[in-house]
Amino acid sequence: CLQVATNVTEQKHHVSRAKRGQILGHLRGFRGCTVWFTGLSGAGKTSIAFELEAYLISHGIPSYGLDGDNMRTGLNKDLSFSKQDREENIRRVAEVAKLFADAGHVSLCSFVSPFAEDREVARRIHRDSDLPFFEVFVDTPLEVCERRDSKGLYEKARKGVIKGFTGIDQPYEQPEHPELVVKTVDCTVEESMMYVVEMLQENGIIP
Ligand code: PPS
Ligand code: MG
Repeated sequence: CLQVATNVTEQKHHVSRAKRGQILGHLRGFRGCTVWFTGLSGAGKTSIAFELEAYLISHGIPSYGLDGDNMRTGLNKDLSFSKQDREENIRRVAEVAKLFADAGHVSLCSFVSPFAEDREVARRIHRDSDLPFFEVFVDTPLEVCERRDSKGLYEKARKGVIKGFTGIDQPYEQPEHPELVVKTVDCTVEESMMYVVEMLQENGIIP
């Protein structure tokens, strides 16, 4: 059975959010939050998140992209694509995203995150720390993702070479109340990104 840590208590930082914001520059201040991109493989999550990361950085706003493919070669390389391991993947990443946000970054998470309850965990982790959390559904239909097949994974999944592939033989639960739905059909990555920029502006995260 799994040993969990006991006798641990929260240790309070000496630095407030306001103080952190000050060193991030008086023009910028504290803008820590998490934008959580969810959608099928090939939907455009990474493209939009990384385009947004570059946009924010070029505007002097600290931002960092946490991406499924990348996290799964490092921190989460012990995890598979079973329902249970996807849950743990999302939980760990949400904790990391929270730390980035708490440090004053706009953390951009691009994960398939196919299960609504796991995304809820990510949201709760942020809510419990009073950090804004924006769920963005990258709404690209399966047929389009499969036609793009940018990594050749759908072909492998259809042939049964990859098992448990989201949209093929594992479910994708569409978000019911995301903060934003972004389409990627008939628009450029930059156009899709601008919808997210507008959302961040409307919420006072960026000027
Ligand atoms: S999850 O569901 O959130 O834990 O997945 P994530 O960490 O985002 O990893 C998804 C990327 O891994 C590749 N890949 C798969 N995706 C879905 N299902 C299966 N079985 C699978 N196997 C490998 C794929 O490159 C995903 O990246 P994206 O960018 O979504 O295509
Ligand atoms: Mg990707």
